Amino acid sequence: MLLMLGIVCSSIFILSIGELIIKVVRKDTTKNPPVEKTFIFILSIVLILTNTYNYIVRFYFRGIIMIELRKITENNFEECIKLEPKEEQKRYVASNISSLAEAYVALTNNECIPMPYAIYDKDIMVGFIMLSYNEADENDDGNVYWVCRLMIDKGHQGKGYGKKAMAKALELIRTSPYGKATVVSLSYEPENVIARTLYASLGFVETGKIEAGELVTKLAL
Ligand SMILES: CC(C)(COP(=O)(O)OP(=O)(O)OC[C@H]1O[C@@H](n2cnc3c(N)ncnc32)[C@H](O)[C@@H]1OP(=O)(O)O)[C@@H](O)C(=O)NCCC(=O)NCCS
Repeated sequence: MLLMLGIVCSSIFILSIGELIIKVVRKDTTKNPPVEKTFIFILSIVLILTNTYNYIVRFYFRGIIMIELRKITENNFEECIKLEPKEEQKRYVASNISSLAEAYVALTNNECIPMPYAIYDKDIMVGFIMLSYNEADENDDGNVYWVCRLMIDKGHQGKGYGKKAMAKALELIRTSPYGKATVVSLSYEPENVIARTLYASLGFVETGKIEAGELVTKLAL
């Protein structure tokens, strides 16, 4: 739409310039341009400048990652459950549909506050992350935020999305959206080298605990 408008305006602009040049060459000062022509001329310049600005901005931001965590809604739910890791990674993470079902069960049984989000780069959904807020019980040291799930779709891995999504999640957790906590915890399979490297680079430290075969780590807030 904008492109079409740009082409029309550019044509009007070129025609107006052409007319102006002819007048100057012929030293034709008899008539002033009508008000409508002056208006169209100015409007054309404004639209051409707006278009150029638009393209420059789009070109500049094309390669920049802009991660956003958006709530799962009826509008993005279908897309979210279609995301998948690589075949050999499926043993490291539950499917997104199963994670969302788990969130429902946890919420309706007051086990914790699940926080599932779709990960977007601009308007493209690239992955899924699920956090939770768990209030302290007699076995815990205090309230804790968990990173229960993190997955980046197989077509979008290795581009920095996983790390940036984790950084965004930590930013969100530090605002204490559901209550105060002193630590963030997560766990992974011992042979999941990518996850291990990623989390260690963000400061997560292994606690020595093993839960359901996974190494538990924590990061002090
Ligand atoms: C783990 C996962 C989320 C990483 O997402 P990603 O977008 O591919 O990762 P990134 O591109 O952000 O890379 C983050 C870091 O992981 C590490 N990493 C990425 N690819 C790697 C590879 N092939 N080998 C070793 N480390 C790797 C690097 O440390 C990298 O950081 P750096 O680039 O600053 O060095 C993704 O591989 C995934 O969805 N895996 C399947 C599900 C899973 O295992 N989830 C974790 C469960 S606990």
